[in-house]
Amino acid sequence: MAGAPQRSGQWAQWNRREFVSRWRDVEPSNGPVSETLFAALKLQPGEHVLDIGCGGGQTTLDAAERVGASGAATGFDISEPMLEIARERARAHALGNVTFAAGDAQVESPPNGPFDAVMSRFGVMFFADPVAAFTNIRRQLRPGGRIAFASWQALGKNQWFPGAVLAKYRHGPPPDPGAPPQPGPFALAGEDYTRSILAAAGFTDISFHAHGYEWREPAKAVDGLLLEAMNLDTETKARAMADLEAHAASMTVDGVIRQERNYWIVTAANG
Ligand SMILES: C[S@@+](CC[C@H](N)C(=O)[O-])C[C@H]1O[C@@H](n2cnc3c(N)ncnc32)[C@H](O)[C@@H]1O
Repeated sequence: MAGAPQRSGQWAQWNRREFVSRWRDVEPSNGPVSETLFAALKLQPGEHVLDIGCGGGQTTLDAAERVGASGAATGFDISEPMLEIARERARAHALGNVTFAAGDAQVESPPNGPFDAVMSRFGVMFFADPVAAFTNIRRQLRPGGRIAFASWQALGKNQWFPGAVLAKYRHGPPPDPGAPPQPGPFALAGEDYTRSILAAAGFTDISFHAHGYEWREPAKAVDGLLLEAMNLDTETKARAMADLEAHAASMTVDGVIRQERNYWIVTAANG
């Protein structure tokens, strides 16, 4: 691996233990995405696959089962607390063909490359320089290798995400509407933008497939964790919390939260 992970804002975010400690609750809501991701990736027994931003490693373990003992799966993530979850799961699964490694996919090379396939379930939207990052990711593939990843469609098609509710409480000037998207869940929401990033990074045969599902779970108390990093005074925090509760109530029917979630499965090839 080249160099130490970048201590960027994203590094700090994903290495906050309080934030990651809620991951096991959040992760199941991404579950329905895996089937479409694996259908697009078409893993074969014996292949070597890299899972970028593998988080708690569930998708890496699923990939390891698909490629079998003659293949291998490597999970790569910037977050040590996430990798702790992944390694704990790997021990429980006792699979001999899984590796988890810490590093920044924007600038570093994970072990075990080059790979036949790269995959990611919502782990590739957090790059400060997406063209440089996807160029680095493409270089982890053997010639003719392929990538498939899931990324969220626009915020307007993912009203479950509370970021828009909290936007008015954020400090600083509003974002320039003409500026490229900032790293975050919706950074690759625009099809034309993402296509241009992948093409500039050297990928070919780029295609997009739109998918959606409704995620349902029992209503629960609103988690104010997102507010903690916003440095709000007590009164403003209370107002923001009330907005979050109203937002959750707007998605709740008969005690069940119903969230409409829409995402892309993007596929491309290395040459
Ligand atoms: C939304 S989570 C998705 C986790 C996992 N793929 C899943 O679906 O359960 C995003 C993940 O990307 C990781 N991540 C963000 N920036 C990264 C980077 N530059 N290099 C590697 N991983 C990164 C985060 O640490 C986090 O685990």
